[in-house]
Amino acid sequence: MDPTTERSHGMRIGIIGAGRIGSTLARRFAGNGHEVRLANSRGPDTLAGLVAGMDGPVEASTADDAARFGEVVVVSIPYGRVDELPHTGLRDKVLVDTCNYYPQRDGHDPELDDDSTTSSEKVRAVTGGDVVKAFNAIYWENLRDHGRPPGDPERIAIPVSGDDEEAKAVVASLIQDIGFDAVDAGGLGGGGRKHQPGSDVYTAELDAEELDARLRTA
Ligand SMILES: NC(=O)c1ccc[n+]([C@@H]2O[C@H](COP(=O)([O-])OP(=O)(O)OC[C@H]3O[C@@H](n4cnc5c(N)ncnc54)[C@H](OP(=O)(O)O)[C@@H]3O)[C@@H](O)[C@H]2O)c1
Repeated sequence: MDPTTERSHGMRIGIIGAGRIGSTLARRFAGNGHEVRLANSRGPDTLAGLVAGMDGPVEASTADDAARFGEVVVVSIPYGRVDELPHTGLRDKVLVDTCNYYPQRDGHDPELDDDSTTSSEKVRAVTGGDVVKAFNAIYWENLRDHGRPPGDPERIAIPVSGDDEEAKAVVASLIQDIGFDAVDAGGLGGGGRKHQPGSDVYTAELDAEELDARLRTA
């Protein structure tokens, strides 16, 4: 992953999940020149008011349409509902997984409880997407409020993991576009474990240097 990747203007981004993280990302991506389709589970009509209040090219859509539309597709729903994701349209797409596994909310998954796999690897198995785990370890209000220009001493960093370096670089450039640094945590399984709930860096507000140092020793 090249942290100096150029800004990635004008990408088509589908976002499935229009809650705190999904709607915040929609606003920020659309405000930075990307074209966004935003979906929830109840249908585009229920998002009309939300989308009308956003600047930039963002439209409400179905999850199927958001999946088809996106060069990059963000999945930002409760992990327990991942089986409901579109069964076509996500295969081989760069898929950004913001989801976290909370058994109290999502129900118990024995393979996650015994750590034999990770939630992002399960998202990959369900969708066939080229999964990059990102935006899962930042509290949504920080995503909304704490974007800063490159070099700003208050700029915070977001961990990114995945098995495809190109896909990670695309996601890193999107992260940079909206005011954060991206730090490579490693592969989807081993790297993802370093920034999932319970990890040292989960929801920590760190600059790139400190985040990198903590990920290396995790
Ligand atoms: N909140 C945070 O600070 C934070 C930070 C990092 C990561 N996360 C993780 O990111 C994910 C999203 O969190 P959130 O706080 O944004 O959740 P949220 O506010 O509860 O919103 C969840 C969204 O997912 C949609 N959704 C649920 N099932 C769906 C389906 N099958 N198809 C399409 N959309 C569906 C919901 O739509 P309907 O209302 O129409 O069902 C809703 O728009 C979770 O896994 C969470 O653990 C959260």
